[in-house]
Amino acid sequence: MSQLSQRPEKPVVGLPLPHESASLHVTGGALYTDDLVQRTKDVLHAYPVQVAQAHGRITALRTGPALKVPGVVRVLTAADVPGVNDAGMKHDEPLFPDEVMFHGHAVAWVLGESLEAARLGAAAVEVELDELPSLITLQDAIAAGSYHGATPLMVQGDIEAGFADAVHVLTGEFQFSGQEHFYLETHAALAQIDENGQVFIQSSTQHPSETQEIVAHVLGVASHEVTVQCLRMGGGFGGKEMQPHGFAAIAALGAKLTGRPVRFRLNRTQDLTMSGKRHGFHSTWKVGFDADGRIQALEATLTADGGWSLDLSEPVLARALCHIDNTYWIPNARVAGRIVKTNTVSNTAFRGFGGPQGMLVIEDIMGRAAPQLGLDPMELRERNFYQPGQGQTTPYGQPVTQPERISAVWQQVQAGADVAVRRREIAVFNATHPNTRRALALTGIKFGISFNLTAFNQGGALVLIYKDGSVLINHGGTEMGQGLHTKMLQVAATTLGIPLERVRLAPTRTDKVPNTSATAASSGADLNGGAIKHACDQLRERLLQVAATQLGAPASDVRITDGIARALGVDGELDWDTLVRTAYVQRVQLSAAGFYRTEGLHWDAQSFRGAPFKYFAHGAAAAEVEVDGFTGAYRIRRVDIVHDVGDSLSPMIDIGQIEGGFVQGAGWLTLEDLRWDVSDGPHRGRLLTQAASTYKLPSFSEMPEEFNVTLLENATEEGAVYGSKAVGEPPLMLAFSVREALRQAAAAFGPSGVSVELSSPATPEAVYWAIETARRADTPHPGAASGRQAAGRGPRADTEEPSSA
Ligand code: MTE
Ligand code: MOS
Repeated sequence: MSQLSQRPEKPVVGLPLPHESASLHVTGGALYTDDLVQRTKDVLHAYPVQVAQAHGRITALRTGPALKVPGVVRVLTAADVPGVNDAGMKHDEPLFPDEVMFHGHAVAWVLGESLEAARLGAAAVEVELDELPSLITLQDAIAAGSYHGATPLMVQGDIEAGFADAVHVLTGEFQFSGQEHFYLETHAALAQIDENGQVFIQSSTQHPSETQEIVAHVLGVASHEVTVQCLRMGGGFGGKEMQPHGFAAIAALGAKLTGRPVRFRLNRTQDLTMSGKRHGFHSTWKVGFDADGRIQALEATLTADGGWSLDLSEPVLARALCHIDNTYWIPNARVAGRIVKTNTVSNTAFRGFGGPQGMLVIEDIMGRAAPQLGLDPMELRERNFYQPGQGQTTPYGQPVTQPERISAVWQQVQAGADVAVRRREIAVFNATHPNTRRALALTGIKFGISFNLTAFNQGGALVLIYKDGSVLINHGGTEMGQGLHTKMLQVAATTLGIPLERVRLAPTRTDKVPNTSATAASSGADLNGGAIKHACDQLRERLLQVAATQLGAPASDVRITDGIARALGVDGELDWDTLVRTAYVQRVQLSAAGFYRTEGLHWDAQSFRGAPFKYFAHGAAAAEVEVDGFTGAYRIRRVDIVHDVGDSLSPMIDIGQIEGGFVQGAGWLTLEDLRWDVSDGPHRGRLLTQAASTYKLPSFSEMPEEFNVTLLENATEEGAVYGSKAVGEPPLMLAFSVREALRQAAAAFGPSGVSVELSSPATPEAVYWAIETARRADTPHPGAASGRQAAGRGPRADTEEPSSA
């Protein structure tokens, strides 16, 4: 086993520890960016001037009236920008625009002595526009040919040959919604000029290095003039991967111009109307199956709703394409991607980063195709799984490692969830309940870990041991609730061989670890854990040398465990504190920088081929739902998950991530319904779901009534830190099982073998319409007749789940 994956004796990794800030979280003691304002003197408050128009050229911007408002100190406009007036990495995001690109676009910011003064000042700023035509929906943008960014094409095999071999060829179209991040902590930053003239910004950002870079560009200074710190976030979910930069730049610009600290924290409505969301997608597809239901060819076009600027839309689209296979072998594929430009917020990263969108397309195809092929959906999925020993590759050419894990989690979840027995019980239930249907569906996932862009797959750390034996670790990752810091403390304690209490973690800062990647792509623990281990390995090696001399044994015989150094076959021991003090006296360096880069990756964005992922994460879920035939209302009765996290670094954290990710995915697919005003009226382009009152999030009442999560055992991942696998995003996609169960339950109101299309999100209303179409479909699909008894339809033909024929 590689040095990186191997665990020493009595490791601190693997212990089910609570989140390092758990007690602070639940007692309200945990500080977030905006809490720091109370500790800062003379703070100015920044407030955006948002324009209530979907699209228009600014003809006049009058700040004079705002400056008359008592307490208003300054109004920031484009004229104030000493550097580049742009907030994005693609340079298509003017910080102070001269064209309003979406309803709610901020065109200026007011600084006030109080938030109220700034708010009144913002209301007093006068903006005049020449209105321009606007595109609000994805369909409108497609119709208008409004695109931006890359148009990738992913090709494998020969689809013409594949379709020629196919016995069943199905086509379809599917459009589905995006999702609001709804992190508890909205976007926030606090900027000040320190005693040294340096700009210091506390920002709620997943990507401090990039926030630093953008702030430096806007201010027209070098990166070493700017330090960004992130103590913790109250959730990011991808929404703080790129979007914090411009906001942080506003605070920094205000601080630079006034010499006073400047803070802002968006209120919920501002956050909802100004920040980007998960991309909604449209897809068209054509799929060919052989007589046994095995996919021969797939042709698809995925269109992402990018919103007004590119932001992360291109990499999100790339990941969508790279996940359209999910767990299925697609020998011949041709998948095109494109991004529409609409007059809405700029859509961005969201847990799964396009992966969920690509996978949703193929799972929707499977769910719709199964009845048409006369196959049980479970059977259809299983038949198409990647198989070991066949040398199968993903549609972008990466060999599928560990295909056996796909069936391992699939088998294990079936056994643990008693799937066979429960499906029989469900058939009986459905036969005896005229107005209610239950269904149990299984779906699996395969999710690629690593950033598609190879350069991002690096991490850094700085580990300091002080004379008293206490240890302070710094790393480039940010904490957003996912438990990265907990895992990093465990990695450091394990590598050094000391108790967890001796290790403390410092807030993430760009002046400690430079050029970091976003804490994203679920790779926070892989990259930063690798770097921390590298730093601690160096320190341990040095200390082993010191201990060896003290104990009179070769260094290779010395072990440090639980803070005690011992040598094989030698009496006597050395405690950690003494060892550290001795090393100090001997002038041994007690700090080390660590670095990690993921080896073996390559990706060619042009040909859209390569091996961009270090490994794949796997999981399977079985979800049972009950649907009411009068209203479409439903409950999630039970969910069972088996998920592969390698050898878990921190099992309680991982289980929390799996539960949270699943529920967030279920929210996206079933409840959360983003709506814009698409009328030609005065509010065109306005986000209608501007609050939790109109945007339904999962809450306790929507939790699965029974929820069992199991980690796959003996799953050591070779070549990853202590044998672990990433966990942050993949479980979100296990929620496909809920959507598929709803589809099957809706279908069970109709005749046997009916193929049901289900909108996404599958709100009760959408489920109701699916039930209605199922009820009205009195002829089973012709394809179904070959695989089952087409006869016997009629009022009670649906006594079995459509899937159990
Ligand atoms: N969990 C919590 N509690 N809060 C979050 O914001 N973000 C998710 C996931 N889990 C998130 C979370 C996303 S989008 C990613 S990419 C990963 O955490 C990032 O952290 P990691 O790389 O350390 O897993
Ligand atoms: Mo996560 S969407 O990669 O921040």
